[in-house]
Amino acid sequence: MKILLPGGAGFIGSHTAVELLNAGHEIIIIDNFSNSNKKSLNAIKEITGKDFKFYEVNYLDEKALDQVFDENKIDAVMNFAGYKSVGESVKNPIEYYKNNISGALTLLEAMKKHNVKKFIFSSSATVYGDPETVPITESSKTGGTTNPYGTTKLYIEQILKDIYTSDPSWDICILRYFNPVGAHESGLIGEEPKGIPNNLMPYIVRVAAGELKELSVFGNDYNTKDGTGVRDYIHVVDLAKGHVAALNKLEKEKTGLYIYNLGTGKGYSVLEMVKAFEKATDQKVPYKIATRRPGDIAECYADPKKAKEELGWEATKTLEDMCRDAWNYIKKQDK
Ligand code: UFG
Repeated sequence: MKILLPGGAGFIGSHTAVELLNAGHEIIIIDNFSNSNKKSLNAIKEITGKDFKFYEVNYLDEKALDQVFDENKIDAVMNFAGYKSVGESVKNPIEYYKNNISGALTLLEAMKKHNVKKFIFSSSATVYGDPETVPITESSKTGGTTNPYGTTKLYIEQILKDIYTSDPSWDICILRYFNPVGAHESGLIGEEPKGIPNNLMPYIVRVAAGELKELSVFGNDYNTKDGTGVRDYIHVVDLAKGHVAALNKLEKEKTGLYIYNLGTGKGYSVLEMVKAFEKATDQKVPYKIATRRPGDIAECYADPKKAKEELGWEATKTLEDMCRDAWNYIKKQDK
């Protein structure tokens, strides 16, 4: 199939681009590099040995988007152009609602106009808010998001449900990501947050590289195995493969609206992550215990059974792979 990837130069987009090309699909990337880098386009080509079309376009630009749809016979769209920083979204809600929600609407409108109805949406476990129980299944309660970023994901999910109700010839898959980390094993693509990282793994990597003094562990008084926050970390390559599996499902089913958790089903604490990173990379990660970060929850991990049963997909990479590959990528960039 021919897949349009807005935001395909970014962290999750670029890894998915690689897996789609490896699976024999054609891709078209559009990106405005607002949170990504031109070099990842060459990296995708180098890893796969395959070429693809690229447009430097903001996905909010209706006319430009129209041209992309006019010039290419697109079968499906996967949207990786959303902003994703929780902290930034609290500071700049208008930018977040505009980019994520208006962007999704612009894209969906262009799709409708060109009769392209297969859509895979990058949602997030954040839509579950503070879960009542873990592991979280797809039928667990959603809502109660604590920041504009999370709320954009929740609203777009609702928009997609409404679109499907109005016209059941759409074929939509909502993928709720847990905590994506790691990098491609080649070290050519990976995560490069601008400024001081907010997320745990990029922060650990910068501490190990000596660029940041120590990790602050946000709270050790949660009701978890060692008191620190527990999350379901998933290797970005596993996550990318989840998109290929979702695409196969849409190709087979023709119409429908599907929702899947993409996680490993295993929860690791902050301290377990630090230990695993030190073991996998042989680097020291100094840390101190700090106060809780506002908005954080104690524990969040997936029940990944539905994706296994219906998509034939499951995460196979280990925590060691995640740590090693994240470190390998940063070492390569810092050279
Ligand atoms: N943590 C620290 N120190 C840090 C950074 C994080 O102790 O410097 C802890 C957090 O308190 C939390 C865990 O590490 O317990 C993971 O934190 P992240 O910031 O890496 O990830 P979150 O689970 O908070 O958020 C992630 C994504 C969001 C997504 C959310 C819910 O960043 O996009 O998962 O799925 F919405």
